[in-house]
Amino acid sequence: MSVQAIAWSANAAVRIVDQRALPDVLVTRDLESAEAVAEAIRTMQVRGAPLIGITAAMGLVVGLRNDRSAPREAFLAGLAEKADLLAGTRPTAVNLHWALDRMVRVARATPGDGAALWERLQSEASAIWEEDRAMCRKIGEHGLALIPDGVKVLTHCNAGALATGGIGTALAPIYLAHEAGRQVHVYVSETRPLLQGARLTAWELAHAGVPCTVITDSMAASLMRAARVDMILVGADRIAANGDFANKIGTYGLAVLALHHGVPLYCAAPSSSIDASLPDGDGIPIEERAPEEVTAVAGRPVAPPGAQALNPAFDVTPARYVAGYVTERGIVKPPFGAAPA
Ligand code: MRU
Repeated sequence: MSVQAIAWSANAAVRIVDQRALPDVLVTRDLESAEAVAEAIRTMQVRGAPLIGITAAMGLVVGLRNDRSAPREAFLAGLAEKADLLAGTRPTAVNLHWALDRMVRVARATPGDGAALWERLQSEASAIWEEDRAMCRKIGEHGLALIPDGVKVLTHCNAGALATGGIGTALAPIYLAHEAGRQVHVYVSETRPLLQGARLTAWELAHAGVPCTVITDSMAASLMRAARVDMILVGADRIAANGDFANKIGTYGLAVLALHHGVPLYCAAPSSSIDASLPDGDGIPIEERAPEEVTAVAGRPVAPPGAQALNPAFDVTPARYVAGYVTERGIVKPPFGAAPA
């Protein structure tokens, strides 16, 4: 059984798993305003491209629950303001903008005043979540063909249940293979600086009973050289029309190593991660986070005071390094058209 990362709580509040507390404790928090949702996304209490989109859509609902008696124009003005606030939280995952644009579009197309629009937004946020859950399942079913019995898979960051509204993207085929009784062993790269691999992926795989081994990011090369990795399966935060994709920093390095060692690398993502407005990956905005995330581990300094540090949260892997894209529509190759509205 995989973990559920998000839920509605009483009175349309948004219940999240606070991922900063994992793997020590599983803490849920109820977010009672759009501002609290924005803060949760910015500080990575919730993270992972699809989950960010779902959370932001739900954030509009909780943020507008007290505006139900507002006239139409005032309600739409409040919606635009809260959508802007949420859109500014993290720049790279296109799912965030995709979900917010969809919510705003749906509200504008709905007749009536605040009460009618709010009801419509609530059902649309639930639909975005439900569709993501279904897309994860489909990604798992299509990706299952890539996972033979006895396979050793390397994954980076966390593209599992903690990053989506369902069973994950990169981890979905692994969960289904495990359920089907196939032996799968997952190498989990720790994913510095915030350790999503060690803290989150290893935690959720263990929770589901999938055997895994955590490695430091720097061990991947020698593992591949020793032929201990059969394939690499990662998620994506944004895929350009030509197939270049942004994912957690370190993915590009893994892709170069994989090609060198003849290991296929697959990118698993729902169509909500495709940004067909970008011809290639050069236009993907890369989030730059605080240097303190690099100079400290779990709040404890690991570099001298005043040390400079770089902290780009993502890198772009060119399409030529990718063996295939596992989407809800099957295992596909670029070019990619627009994501469904
Ligand atoms: O900074 P994060 O933890 O939000 O980064 C997450 C990733 O890079 C994931 O691989 C990506 O969002 C795909 S999640 C299904």
